[in-house]
Amino acid sequence: MCGIVGYIGDKDILSVLIVGLERLSYRGYDSAGIAVVSDDEISVWKHPGKVHRLAKDLETTTSHARVGIGHTRWATHGIPNDINAHPHCDAQRRFAIVHNGIIENYMSLRSELVKEGFLFRTQTDSEVIVHLVDKYYNGSLRDAVTQTVKRLEGSYAFCVVSALHDNHMIVARKNSPIIVGLGKDENYVSSDVNALVAQTKRVVYLEEETIAVLSDQSVEMYDFSGQPRAHTVSEVNWTAERSEKNGYDHFMQKEIHEQPSVVRTILDTYVKNNEIVFPKLSFSTKDLKNMSRLIIQACGTSWHAGLIGKYLIEELGRVPTEVDISSEFRYRRLLSHADEIVVAISQSGETADTLACIREAKSKYFSILSFVNTEGSSIDRESDGVIYTACGPEIGVASTKNYIGQLITLYLFSLHLGRIRNMISDDVYQKHIHDIKALPVAIENVIAQAPAIKTMMARYYSAKSIIFIGRGLNYPTALEGALKLKELSYMHATGYPAGELKHGPIALIDDNLPVVGIVPKTATYKKMMSNIQEVKARGGRLILIATEGDTVAKQLTDDVIYIPPISDELSPVLAVIPLQLMAYYIALNLGCDVDQPRNLAKSVTVE
Ligand code: F6R
Repeated sequence: MCGIVGYIGDKDILSVLIVGLERLSYRGYDSAGIAVVSDDEISVWKHPGKVHRLAKDLETTTSHARVGIGHTRWATHGIPNDINAHPHCDAQRRFAIVHNGIIENYMSLRSELVKEGFLFRTQTDSEVIVHLVDKYYNGSLRDAVTQTVKRLEGSYAFCVVSALHDNHMIVARKNSPIIVGLGKDENYVSSDVNALVAQTKRVVYLEEETIAVLSDQSVEMYDFSGQPRAHTVSEVNWTAERSEKNGYDHFMQKEIHEQPSVVRTILDTYVKNNEIVFPKLSFSTKDLKNMSRLIIQACGTSWHAGLIGKYLIEELGRVPTEVDISSEFRYRRLLSHADEIVVAISQSGETADTLACIREAKSKYFSILSFVNTEGSSIDRESDGVIYTACGPEIGVASTKNYIGQLITLYLFSLHLGRIRNMISDDVYQKHIHDIKALPVAIENVIAQAPAIKTMMARYYSAKSIIFIGRGLNYPTALEGALKLKELSYMHATGYPAGELKHGPIALIDDNLPVVGIVPKTATYKKMMSNIQEVKARGGRLILIATEGDTVAKQLTDDVIYIPPISDELSPVLAVIPLQLMAYYIALNLGCDVDQPRNLAKSVTVE
């Protein structure tokens, strides 16, 4: 949510900053801007809308500046116009800042600063930061920032440059992510590793409440009281190519096609000689045996994975499991008992609500296990044990391949628990491992139907609304299908447990309403089919996701998408893929931007 970049060094600064912003643009795309320092002056360029519009403005501009910052915005305070676009400067343009987060006490700070004569130009909360730096500046930029952070409440990662100091920049962090990338005679700043991997693999994840001072030769860290702080350098193993489209039209399309290889990578990582091994799980066998309850909390698509995780953990691991939406979890009374573990599920590892929940749970002495894609992220670093979903960078704002990674790792974790807790026999364990090994080819078979799904969706994109129904393990699949469609196409969609239809939503059914029924041959098949008949009897337009060989489905509608036969536990993995493709093609038919849908951001770092 908002992306920040910074650079100090000899490269062409405008292109380094623009390339960095383009790579971060999934974090927000309401406006973009950059500021550079040269000849004791700050130059600023901003443009509402996506980064490429700013890039176009700068096509013929050159700069010999050696220090600069950039920002791509997801608006929180103030409409997305060029005035509210970052960077923000003080009245004399001695300082420029870019900020990610929310300054919660900005109203009182703003009144105080206005009374003192500081001139505000924007409606943003962020602008107070630059005026505070200006107010406290007394010759040292670091000291000014150290004074500034003492006044700020809320969450922030910000970066400051000054016309008075063209040889360094300052970064500060509290509750929002920021990373320093280390180069030779140059250094970088970025909100996440994606903007850095093309430039350097050596990074420092700033600890909470840290101020960093970057020159082209050095990086120094300080705590908020001004004391030096040691830092650790980490190596990133993502390659820059993994963040490219590689011939696909969209990142989302590429990521859907990567799903078979995601499963293969997870198997290579965690299944050794047909045994599941989690190197960073950290909980002892005794802990896992004695565990009395798991409480999963996550947001959006990750929450849907958590709902399926509950079924899997209870079925295979036999541990009572609850699932909460993170933003709700925080407001319930958390009764702590020994032997309970709070689980966070997050692609980015930075989702503010999910992170706040693990901090809250830790304060109540819960242990934390996380399923995270982004190594080095805050949730990764603050958890007691971690299982990486190992999907590589996911750039499309709508999550696809990482959802599959979450389902597979949750499945392996459930099996692991079942084995340790003596709830499943060796034969059953091996049968599950065998099933999962067959999955990549089955996923390829489903993806191969993309052209047919595209043709089918040409008949549905003008619908006003679509209902998705499923049962058991595939009720969350219905929720996920509806979420994908809403976020990509802006079409109203809702997911329902099929058995609940008759308790109200069936009133919506008429011959205009498409209903997507998720009916693989699982334990709930017969009940699902009865619900489908109820929809058909009321004229609903049916699209069915059914198992190959299901002739009944074909009698109910022409629009059946078949998935290969699969176990109940793995059926959500195959059933969701047609729903991803349906959302993708409906959105394309409607002319929507599938990789960067309106109003969204990939990494939601505000609560
Ligand atoms: C939907 C989507 C979001 C995220 C949610 C949580 O396609 O991507 O709903 O799943 O914002 O994000 P993470 O998993 O990064 O915590």
